[in-house]
Amino acid sequence: MLFTRLIKQHSILTTLYKESISYLSPTNLNGWWNFGSLALLCLVVQVATGIFLTMHYIPHESMAFGSVEHIMRDVNSGWLIRYVHANGASFFFMVVYFHLFRGLYFGSYTYPRQEVWNIGVVILLIMILTAFLGYVLPWGQMSFWAATVITSLVSTVPVVGVDIVYWLWGGFSVSTVTLNRFLSLHYLLPFVLIFLVLLHLVFLHEAGSGNPLGIDNKFFGNQYVDAQRFHPFYTIKDLHGVLLYSIFFLFFVCFAPNFFGHPDNYIPANPDQTPAHIVPEWYFLPFYAILRSVPNKLLGVILLLLAIIVLLVFPILVNKTINVRSNTFKPLSQFVFWLFVVNCLVLGWVGGKSIEYPYTEIGFLSTVFYFGYFIIILPFLHVLETYGLGLYLPKSPKNSLFVRRYVRSSGSLLTALGLKRSQAYAVHMSFFRIYYWYIRFWPSTFGRVFMILLVEAIGFCLTGYAIKRRMHRSQTFEFCMYSIIKKHTLLLPKWLAKLIWKVYFFFPIP
Ligand code: HEM
Repeated sequence: MLFTRLIKQHSILTTLYKESISYLSPTNLNGWWNFGSLALLCLVVQVATGIFLTMHYIPHESMAFGSVEHIMRDVNSGWLIRYVHANGASFFFMVVYFHLFRGLYFGSYTYPRQEVWNIGVVILLIMILTAFLGYVLPWGQMSFWAATVITSLVSTVPVVGVDIVYWLWGGFSVSTVTLNRFLSLHYLLPFVLIFLVLLHLVFLHEAGSGNPLGIDNKFFGNQYVDAQRFHPFYTIKDLHGVLLYSIFFLFFVCFAPNFFGHPDNYIPANPDQTPAHIVPEWYFLPFYAILRSVPNKLLGVILLLLAIIVLLVFPILVNKTINVRSNTFKPLSQFVFWLFVVNCLVLGWVGGKSIEYPYTEIGFLSTVFYFGYFIIILPFLHVLETYGLGLYLPKSPKNSLFVRRYVRSSGSLLTALGLKRSQAYAVHMSFFRIYYWYIRFWPSTFGRVFMILLVEAIGFCLTGYAIKRRMHRSQTFEFCMYSIIKKHTLLLPKWLAKLIWKVYFFFPIP
């Protein structure tokens, strides 16, 4: 009672309550919607561990490397804090890339969430900058040479390029001055990120979350078709994600802490000796491949910038009238999306190779596909499949029934199992009780790990069964898609649209 009164009396608390507890979210969000909260977790962990690292770090060219070793050997739990921070950067990018590709697949980049997407792109840009600055700080060979190579790219700017590079370095080479300003900015930018993430969430809550179907559950005016409160349903689901993520993350921190790092960074920086291959961290490799895909350095830098800018531009090219935004119902778009994912992996692979045949050629072709996907293929496929498959939903209340069916027929895994939402919640809670139980009482580390794996194994078995049920449920989809095709196919003869749809349902829903 006291708690409720307190919330009602204070406007800040009321807003917090509305935005984090009673915020209405679609019922059918799947696991891909967990990556936003995971990214938030990563950001908090990076800031927290970063603050402690800075307490012992010395930004001086003769002491930086040694101060990091001091953290690893002498500072209490210093090894843990440093490994969490270093691996945390890799996992942060992993999570954000999943988050970004989720948005791409399910069409979250277009109306009414274009601001959320655009702020996301700016966040990505600042993340890249922050990670680059941070990588220089341990002052190993890779740190020094990465700093030198990447800052030297600015020298391609005509006339004033070289002067800008000296200005950035604060001298005629990367040195203590550079290290000091890099630390200062590396400390500052995460706070800019926090501000941008808040803005990201404000815009998200303004528009409402999307969902795997890519059809707004606010489709008709401001009326929600099928939504539920964020708490407890998604707080529990997000916590479940956090636990799963922690298992992977802590495995790397505890058992393979240098898996994502480069061994050369354990050699102190030496300006007189260039490493045989200067390679950036894995999360920059696709961009590095785009940079090196053309023989001209200036053009490479321009392409590198465009690789990010294109993420801001392509949503403008996607037809606004399309109201089934996701790829869920678009077989061709799905296929090309996965081609694009493979293409990004290929770019990453090429980025780690030296500049020689056939890597230069592959890098060039992959770069062409990267830009072609955003500028030509994606906008074109949206229009083709929307009208071709009769996916265009005219804004008329008569169709609310269809939308209702759409949204209900793809529930979360547990609702797909046939459980009611309250039952699904109870199952999630019991999972948590088990976790809680083993953490408190299990005496040996081995036993704890075993319990985690057991609980997860049960989870995966349930998932398998749920997917089967879901395919069965897709009959409802089929029925409702047919009805829509019958009524609203705009371009194709009905029999053709029906045939295409039949072929599509030959393949299972992802
Ligand atoms: C520090 C990095 C980031 C954080 C902490 C963050 C956080 C979040 C959170 C908590 C959500 C709501 C939950 C969800 O939908 O997963 C969200 C949604 C979203 N984010 Fe991010 N985000 C980050 C980076 C990005 C980036 C790089 C992009 C894309 C370029 C992006 C685009 C989006 C979009 C489009 C949505 C709405 C999705 C929908 O509801 O359909 N975010 N973000």
